Amino acid sequence: MAPPTAIETAAPTEQDIEQTVRKLANLKPISHGLSEFSSNDESTNTGPQEKYLQLLPEPARKRFEKAGIDLSKGYPVIPVRDDIPKFVDEAYEIRNKDYPYIERGKNADPEKKALFGAAKEVKNLTKHIGTEIVGLQLADLNDKQKDELALLVAERVVVFFRDQDLSPQKQLELGEYWGQVERHPQAPHVPLPIPEGVDTIAKGSGISVIWRKFFNEFYGIPKNFKQKQAAGGWHTDLVHEHQPAGITHLHNDTIPKTGGDTAWASGYAAYDKLSPALQQFLDGKNAVYRSAHQYIDRSNPLKGPKYIEREHPIIRTHPTTGWKSLFVNRAMTVRIVGLEPDESKVILEYLYSVFEKNLDIQVRFRWQPTKEGYGTSAIWDNRISQHYAIPDYDVDEDDRHGTRVTSLAEVPYFDPASKSQREALGLPLN
Ligand SMILES: [Fe+2]
Repeated sequence: MAPPTAIETAAPTEQDIEQTVRKLANLKPISHGLSEFSSNDESTNTGPQEKYLQLLPEPARKRFEKAGIDLSKGYPVIPVRDDIPKFVDEAYEIRNKDYPYIERGKNADPEKKALFGAAKEVKNLTKHIGTEIVGLQLADLNDKQKDELALLVAERVVVFFRDQDLSPQKQLELGEYWGQVERHPQAPHVPLPIPEGVDTIAKGSGISVIWRKFFNEFYGIPKNFKQKQAAGGWHTDLVHEHQPAGITHLHNDTIPKTGGDTAWASGYAAYDKLSPALQQFLDGKNAVYRSAHQYIDRSNPLKGPKYIEREHPIIRTHPTTGWKSLFVNRAMTVRIVGLEPDESKVILEYLYSVFEKNLDIQVRFRWQPTKEGYGTSAIWDNRISQHYAIPDYDVDEDDRHGTRVTSLAEVPYFDPASKSQREALGLPLN
């Protein structure tokens, strides 16, 4: 028998392993099923994206130019390869300790006179979730109004503003008022210098780019109507954080004429949909939550993707309202602690369905109309909601582009003395 070739017998070199690890650590898009479709190897293509700048829709370009954002090196910016944590233990280290957090809504005027007094109109879009404020510019809010808006978001789950003239910098400033702004270690962001004293492994500007066309092109996701749901799906952002996302603000500067709506569902109302027996069973229990992005196990890099996982109460008490909320989502809840895997699976499946099937606790928002040259903002509380970006628009002919700033909140807790929303408001429980 002929001796095996050198290629077959050679033990992997350090370089081979490094290369494999890099490949495995390729910038996976958020894993709502997307990574399996990825056909591009963009693992080395980090930093400002020169070739994608030309795809940037005109309204977004104009907004950035007006705000003095330097796009000369490219857009968007992916954190450079060496700054992206590859191993799951590195990723854990990002914000792995308590940091100060001020609950802005807590001390706000319950009547919200400063906010409502300055608005032309305040309209509830559904009974249980979603309010639109008309005639106010987010960029002009004073601190009192920002506190009242935080309270309104805590009560109504999501609040909308059309016709906004909002620079990315101003959006960031608002987010910083409501909590520590999340700087994502992998996600594409708007180029802005990182403020001094930002102590984090993640190097992003804090303004994430929400732009499906870019994601599709960059990650090589084929257009496939049947697989569209893989790009969306009900979820809550950043549930794996030590202090998960609180207020999140998506500002869409480019809005499709047709489609591209977003839906939200209320965690307060989902809790109120459960029987007292099931509520009691879940009160005080914990669940394990995982990151959307994937990392590598240092001890066995070839084993496959690893996620950041953290434990939080499955029923959370909101610090502002004191109301209980069901904190699960199909994309990123791993299991209920203390149950057998099969039990956990069945119960979680039911809990997801409460959010997904009860249209009376959802709001579906159409981002249009908004005045030409302006954008529409949605500000929601991730602690008490799930959302779903409906991928039914044509990215080539009718694009959608936005910027997102997420303020991280408290370490989640469950207060056994807290009440459900309906209980606290004195509404019938049935
Ligand atoms: Fe999201």
